[in-house]
Amino acid sequence: MGSKWYTQWTTFLIIQILTSPTYTISSFNFTNLEFPKSFIFSTASSAYQIEGAWNVSGKGESIWDRLAHTNPDAILGGVNGDVACNSYYKYKEDIQLIKDIGFKMYRISLSWSRLFPNGYTTNLNDDGVSYYNAVINELLANDIVPMVTLYHWDLPQKLEDEGGWLNANISNIFGDYARACFKLFGDRVKWWLTINEPYLVASGYGNIDYAPMLNQHGTGEYISGHNVLRAHAKAYRIYDKEFRSSQGGNISLPFFGNFYFPKSESSIMDVEAAERANQFTIGWFAHPIFSKKGGYPEVMIENIYNKSIAGGLNESRLPTFTQEEIEELKGSCDYFGLNHYTTKLTEFGINGEDPSINTDMEVVYSINPNIPTAASPTFQVIPKGLRAALVWIKEQYNNPHIFITENGYCDTGEVQDEKRISYHTDYLKEVSGALKEDGCKILGYTVWSILDNLEWRKGYTLKFGLVQVDFNSTERPRKKKLSAQFFKELLQRHSSSKGVSMHYTEFLCLALIFINILCYIY
Ligand code: BGC
Repeated sequence: MGSKWYTQWTTFLIIQILTSPTYTISSFNFTNLEFPKSFIFSTASSAYQIEGAWNVSGKGESIWDRLAHTNPDAILGGVNGDVACNSYYKYKEDIQLIKDIGFKMYRISLSWSRLFPNGYTTNLNDDGVSYYNAVINELLANDIVPMVTLYHWDLPQKLEDEGGWLNANISNIFGDYARACFKLFGDRVKWWLTINEPYLVASGYGNIDYAPMLNQHGTGEYISGHNVLRAHAKAYRIYDKEFRSSQGGNISLPFFGNFYFPKSESSIMDVEAAERANQFTIGWFAHPIFSKKGGYPEVMIENIYNKSIAGGLNESRLPTFTQEEIEELKGSCDYFGLNHYTTKLTEFGINGEDPSINTDMEVVYSINPNIPTAASPTFQVIPKGLRAALVWIKEQYNNPHIFITENGYCDTGEVQDEKRISYHTDYLKEVSGALKEDGCKILGYTVWSILDNLEWRKGYTLKFGLVQVDFNSTERPRKKKLSAQFFKELLQRHSSSKGVSMHYTEFLCLALIFINILCYIY
């Protein structure tokens, strides 16, 4: 008699839970991963990292094509982006993967030299226009909103030959390019981003981390960064004046938003070093746009001036904006785009080539060996760093809306990518905390990246994708990783009424407790 009751009640319990509109059972733990209905989940890629077809149908050469083809040491393994993920041909398959996982937005970038082979808008390549029209239309047909970055580091080589981002006139050339893109695609694209992570664009001139690897430390980073800001402001004002009223979109830029913590909280020197590092990285580009006063952060102006004079110059190596430029830059983002991957520890110190941003900043970074890292030691997994960055931005810039335009974890490409799942789970919990407890206004979260792809100078050694790509096969076959399933379930919960989910271990515990009670009674 007892066992009959036991069987009936257990079956009843299981059926109730499985069919309940509120509860679902999963092998993933979604505790504290609830987000407001309006919160957008997105994923991302960039042209050079996935497209391939580097010289197909009239595409011009970019600085990354040139670097990969002429400097065998530039990219690990001597590889290049000639084929990459072959997404130029496989974009429909990519979009089906994105749809299947359930993302409602996809961030792509336009290859400037595919659209305008020599960078100038007088030189339009029809095939480039058709390609991006096809991608945008395919996204819309699948109910995926395109977020489009105008520039993700692949400058047309012709413009580099004219000085690249060191050339003051690049701001006008970029303005023309932006206008042409708004005209071509703005009827369908409502989310625009201008220039991906100006901090890293500038590092291609100040050091050798990115193309064109000029290494003009101490001046190259500041001059190129200055022109990137002027170019961004031009594009923003063009959109504002000529397109916003008819196209009704928004425009921002994705800031490099890794964060810095003091090595020791109790050391004033370390605390100050962390604040300086945040101002020299996030503040360098965000202060001119989001602060009330405009222009560069005070600590950058002061430090670079003092170091320049001490180095025998009679003016600062940091360029100055005209009053008109200051005004043009202020408020030139509709929200704060944040790319965040990791947090570093800082202390006072002079390190690196002198002069350079590092010696101007007077900060030395360190890594706590007890904290896990991703496949590259520079990516320490410190989820609370993302929350601290969100709160820092809120406090510095009067609580702007923030869209997390990149966050991701790199490994060596395994399909059973449990560590990627933990990374996103823990970082997303911090995002949820920042939303619910800290009052940050966060619009969405973008997973970098949909596909394993060309990780710049690291080649194909670091993999960020939710989907594996076999780079040894000419077909570049794709295979979903476990993390794709994790996001699929998370996004199903997000878009359905199944707001509360139960991890299967919790479900089993509950069932066992229930069985025990029944056994005890009967
Ligand atoms: C860039 C991506 C890059 C990622 C991982 C970001 O800063 O925007 O292009 O793949 O970092 O390193």
